[in-house]
Amino acid sequence: MNQITEQMLNHTSIRKYTDEPITQEQVDTIVQCAQMASTSSHFQAYSIIEVRDPAKREVLKECSGGQKWTVTAPLVLLFCADLHRSGKYFDGIDKDVLTNTECYTVAVIDAALAAQNAFTATESMGLGGVIVGGIRNDVQKLIDTFQLPEQVAPLFALCLGHPDDNPGLKPRLPQAIVHKIDTYTEDGNDEMMEEYNARVKDYYTERTRGKNTNTWSQQCGQLMMAKTRDEVGFVLRKNGFLGR
Ligand SMILES: Cc1cc2nc3c(=O)[nH]c(=O)nc-3n(C[C@H](O)[C@H](O)[C@H](O)COP(=O)(O)O)c2cc1C
Repeated sequence: MNQITEQMLNHTSIRKYTDEPITQEQVDTIVQCAQMASTSSHFQAYSIIEVRDPAKREVLKECSGGQKWTVTAPLVLLFCADLHRSGKYFDGIDKDVLTNTECYTVAVIDAALAAQNAFTATESMGLGGVIVGGIRNDVQKLIDTFQLPEQVAPLFALCLGHPDDNPGLKPRLPQAIVHKIDTYTEDGNDEMMEEYNARVKDYYTERTRGKNTNTWSQQCGQLMMAKTRDEVGFVLRKNGFLGR
């Protein structure tokens, strides 16, 4: 165990912040760390928009179904998959290639890795935050608000600040379900899942003082069905992604 692994093992999303601002030096370091994440073929196919404008923060809140930390967090970074820059600056490419699913996948992975690097850097400074994918409830509104050109897709916002909350660790799946060796086996999964579901039920029951008594299977099933966000695909196709 070292400082970094210890910090990573203590990760928990923070949705409440003190008024203390994040300094410009911290912001610069956070973005610098994001930029040093691994990136597919050095494409760096993402952009990060720092959202300062209160009106645009309100749009994030509205799009995310009222998640107020998009407004209250001292720092909000909007992560976008970006193939626009590739189309503009990569020499000699057939731009049609950027519409394929592989290019979209590359851009989303690049953005996610950059965001996690930013998040880890932030936590190393004693700060905390939460990723908000809920903004994808209205992708078109985000494209309009942030004037995203063709082939730039808003993915999620990273809301960051000085923690004013300590929600405790959320139990993860048993390692043996996630970590497999050589072959995708499912041996023992049902038993492990039963034990995990009981653990998560206890976690939610305690954290919500009995208001939510869901197991992991119940909670995730409900969340997945509550918002299928089928429009994301339609809007992204319209904006030059996922053509083939
Ligand atoms: C892509 C992505 C989107 C997320 N979207 C939201 C969100 O819209 N609202 C929210 O409160 N948390 C969101 N989260 C945070 C997760 O709910 C959280 O990471 C997960 O429940 C595990 O909890 P923990 O981070 O506290 O360990 C998101 C996380 C990821 C990776």
